[in-house]
Order: sequence, then C-alpha cells, then structure tokens
Amino acid sequence: MNALSTGRSLLSARDLSSDEALGLLGLAEALAAKVASGERARLLEGRQVALAFFEPSTRTRLSFERAAVLLGASVTDLSAGTSSMSKGESVRDTVVTLRELGADALVVRHRSSGVPAQVEAWTARPVVNAGDGCHQHPTQALADALALCRRWWGEEWTALAAPGWRPFSGRRVAVVGDVAHSRVARSLVDVLVPLGASVVLVAPPALVPGALHAWPVELAGSLDDVVSGVDALYLLRIQRERLDPRLVPSIDAYRRRFGLDERRADRLGAATVILHPGPVNRGTELASAVADSPRSLIGEQVRAGLSVRMAVLLRALLGLDGLPSDLVSRTGQGLGILGEAALRPGPEPSSAPAGRT
Ligand code: CP
Repeated sequence: MNALSTGRSLLSARDLSSDEALGLLGLAEALAAKVASGERARLLEGRQVALAFFEPSTRTRLSFERAAVLLGASVTDLSAGTSSMSKGESVRDTVVTLRELGADALVVRHRSSGVPAQVEAWTARPVVNAGDGCHQHPTQALADALALCRRWWGEEWTALAAPGWRPFSGRRVAVVGDVAHSRVARSLVDVLVPLGASVVLVAPPALVPGALHAWPVELAGSLDDVVSGVDALYLLRIQRERLDPRLVPSIDAYRRRFGLDERRADRLGAATVILHPGPVNRGTELASAVADSPRSLIGEQVRAGLSVRMAVLLRALLGLDGLPSDLVSRTGQGLGILGEAALRPGPEPSSAPAGRT
C-alpha cells in the first residue's frame, strides 16, 4: 500500500515545537509500555518502511527496523554496499526504486547534509532523517531526551507532562567534543533547550562551530571547567571518518583535555549522568569503566531509541504528532485512543508529502 499524504517527515529536530517533542516522547513511552506488556501495537499493518542507509549504522538502523516490525509494518532494507549503487546508480534513482517497490515512508542516512530533504522531494513520501552529514540526527536527540526524562523524573514521568511543561528546567547539560562535525550536538541543542535545559558546549577551538553566536548555548574550553557543575555530561564521538587530522593532531592530547577518564569522573556530582550516542571510542572520549558505571545512560539511550523510533514512524505514516495533549498525562490509556485517532480519515490523497504544497 502506498502512503497517503497524512504522514509527516522528520528532517530536523528544529521542525518540532517543544510541545510536539514532548508529545512524541509521551507517545514513545506509551508504546514502550504497550510492548513491555506484550500487547500488540500493530498500527502500521500493511505499511512498508524502507531503510535507506548510505552510511554505516548499528543502533539507528536496527532500532528503526525493530520499531517498524513491532508496529506491524514490513521493512525493505537497502544495503547500499551491495546495491546497484556500486554500478554507479544515483541516490535519486535508488530511492525512487524503493518508492516504486511500495515504500510508504523512507528512513534515510547519508554522509551529506540535506540528502533526506532531497529524498522527500524525489519520492513524495514521508522521510525520517536518520543522520545526514554534520547536520541533524533528530531521533537520537529525542531518544536522549527520553532517557533523561526517565532518569530525572522516573518511569511515570508522563503523569507530570502537560503542554508547556519544561522537564529540563534548571538542568545544566555539557556537550563535550567534536561539536563542529556533530549532527548529534545540533539536534540535541534543538531538543533540550526548548525543553528547558541550559547547554554548555565544551570543545577545542578547532572543533567549535563557525556560527556559534546563533546557538543558544554557553561555551567552555576545558572539561575541567564544567565537570563538577553539570547534571548531565554528553560525550560526543571523535568522528575519525569526518575529521581532518590537522584539526586534532594528537588524539592523546585530546583525550587528556576532553576525555572523561576515571579521575575526572570522580569530580562529577553524585547524581550527574553520562550520555554518549555510540559507538563509543572506549579510552578516547570516555573511559571504559565510566561508560559501564551506574551513572551511564548509554544502554537507556538505546532502549529509548527504539520507543522514540516507533513514535516517529507513527508520525511519519499516520500523521500523529504524539498523544493528544489531554492524553500525555494518561499514557497507560493512550494507545486505545491513539488507535481511534489513527482511524480518523486523513486529508485527500495527493502526490505531495505532508507539509508541502
Ligand atoms: N548513535 C548512532 O547513530 O549510532 P549508529 O551509527 O550505530 O546508528
């Protein structure tokens, strides 16, 4: 079945208002409860999700695949390395082929910024950005926000949620490392700041983004300056595949100044949590013992990522922004009513993706 244009792309975390982000997190929590209880949540039965990953991935690709299957959708998984792209086929012809094979929505990762938006235009299907170049990785930031909600407010956090709620008010989050090349950092700032957090970026001068004045953040030049005064420390991966070695001539020097080793971790507040999007360069940005410590949310980030991707697929294919606001505080009942919302007739089919005319 081809997607009707009731769905909505998610190309950037900036496309979400704070209430929309909160709604998606509430929806993700409702779906997590549904899955944990063993109940069926096959709201996407008959739909087809295409995974178009032109860059390697473990957790994002597998969690989108698992999310689609849990919702009853079928999955078409393009393996770029063994596809006809190795014979010179273009990205455009590849994704149009996925559409012609029946894809109702596409999940796209590419090393170049802007490709997911291009795919939306080429296919007239809802597209979820699974990471594009140094630009955006919105579902990672939503997963991180859900992991923080769970840690800071408990598993029943949705009982507190209401439109306008800022769950991270008064919380200080440090984002440490190669901010300049990080789509995770950009998306994270776009999600956490509207939800109330204050964010401090910690990066060597060569890895500070050029247009930092436009970011609603503080900047610190050394991890030692912030380590004892934050509620969460988010370590970014050193992206060797994107990094010009001239910017970081010595990984060892980088580790000494910006790595979270056990000595620095001892200076963290008792309740400070550590996050990392993965994959972790153990011993570089994060010591193994710290990554595996009780203050680490790395496993929780992965679990939250599955639920968030289920919610985002529902948004992409059914046009849901999240639980209706009156349901955010009644998550347990959410899916029943969500099912009714899903059954409401959408707008007339058109060839243009939702949100575009
Ligand atoms: N965090 C993240 O995007 O991980 P993968 O590259 O494994 O998907």
